Amino acid sequence: MVGALGCAGLAVPFVKSLEPDASVAAAATTVADLTGIAPGMQMTLSWQDKPVIIVHRTPEMIASLKEVEPQLADPNCTVPQQPPYAKNIYRSIKPEWLVMVRVCTHLCCIPLFKPAPGSVEPGWDGGFHCPCHGSLYDLSGRVYKNVPAPRNMAIPEYRFVDGGKKVEITAMYPEAKLC
Ligand code: FES
Repeated sequence: MVGALGCAGLAVPFVKSLEPDASVAAAATTVADLTGIAPGMQMTLSWQDKPVIIVHRTPEMIASLKEVEPQLADPNCTVPQQPPYAKNIYRSIKPEWLVMVRVCTHLCCIPLFKPAPGSVEPGWDGGFHCPCHGSLYDLSGRVYKNVPAPRNMAIPEYRFVDGGKKVEITAMYPEAKLC
């Protein structure tokens, strides 16, 4: 289905080191300001040489997470790709905010953010499309069935600060694998 899109030329390989040494991991926390991210929009920042996407989900996007579940490989997040507090349908602390390492679990390309229904294929509910080999994820980064990627995308350790106006990304969740 998506393989027919022929968009391999858009592939963005993620080539930097994925395993920073312990001193870098300990030091590198990042605080992101959420106030400028309108509902439906995203911001991607570089954290520890990894792209982290923050999505401000709309009520419609949140509703889609339940509808898409029959198409997903691990809808209940049984593989520990997220901290325990994000082991839920939203894969997050607050339903409206997704904070996720934007790295495809197949071979570490950076998936495209494709939130518009129908924008990848007919019946598409919105989510992420990896152009490298056609993997698909929903708007929580949960992987579809029958695609090359083997697991959901990784959720880092994070917390809300400044009364919820900012998010602090603190560490990789130790059990999560990037690719
Ligand atoms: S790297 Fe994403 S589908 Fe292969």
